[in-house]
Amino acid sequence: MCPPNPTVDAKKPDPTRIPHRIETQRLVLRCYEPTDAETVRVVCAANREHLVEFMPWARADPQTLDEKLELVLGFRSQYDAGKNHIMGIFDGATGALVGGTGLHPGAARFGFEIGYWIIAEREGQGLVSEAVRALSLVALRLGHGMVTVRMAPENTRSEAVVERLGFRREGLVRNSFLFGDDPPRDTVQFTLLPAELEASDWVAATEASVRGFDALGRPVDLSRGAEQASSADSSP
Ligand SMILES: CC(C)(COP(=O)(O)OP(=O)(O)OC[C@H]1O[C@@H](n2cnc3c(N)ncnc32)[C@H](O)[C@@H]1OP(=O)(O)O)[C@@H](O)C(=O)NCCC(=O)NCCS
Repeated sequence: MCPPNPTVDAKKPDPTRIPHRIETQRLVLRCYEPTDAETVRVVCAANREHLVEFMPWARADPQTLDEKLELVLGFRSQYDAGKNHIMGIFDGATGALVGGTGLHPGAARFGFEIGYWIIAEREGQGLVSEAVRALSLVALRLGHGMVTVRMAPENTRSEAVVERLGFRREGLVRNSFLFGDDPPRDTVQFTLLPAELEASDWVAATEASVRGFDALGRPVDLSRGAEQASSADSSP
């Protein structure tokens, strides 16, 4: 294990700057509120069979309202502390919960791992691709060095999402997915770097449609160079 490098770590972006609410063309991505607990309970119970093969946490469903409240309160406090940004995917028009995603601390030292799931009835509509485009833009434009997605080698639908967005396939990492007492599972890992975001054929349309807001509802600057501009502003 290497000792921390103060020179490099001093440049590490502040994870608490991740917006509390992200709006895309069709979606709202936001941290859960306690009042979402009943919706989370109903949606997770209804989608248990759809999710459980690749999302082992779904084995716990169905859960009670109090169990979901405890879960949501935990998500909320981790989000507010900038430790793990677990978000619901909500339909922008109706407000209905249609999936989950987030920017999670992952294997990458300066980046985030993006996870995702969508309810069965909204699969195949491009909503997950839309969410992943938005989260990649947010993370990389705010100065994080990399976004990573990993999935089971047999999860072809998940792989298609990141292939579509031009993530680079890094390869198979053996025994890299741990859940409870299960035997470790292999994952395939994909990454996107800042220069690849800027060179992508989707960044311009995503930039035009994605808006981020902080906890007070103030807009977050997601334009190219936003991170350098804000670092310069905060220099003594
Ligand atoms: C993996 C999973 C998230 C993929 O969801 P998805 O709906 O297939 O992904 P997208 O939202 O990007 O939709 C892609 C599909 O929508 C279509 N589509 C329609 N409009 C689109 C648009 N504007 N942009 C992109 N795709 C669009 C694509 O052609 C594609 O269709 P196809 O599946 O017939 O090829 C979903 O299958 C799931 O939740 N599985 C269970 C949980 C899971 O495995 N999570 C991932 C763990 S790593």
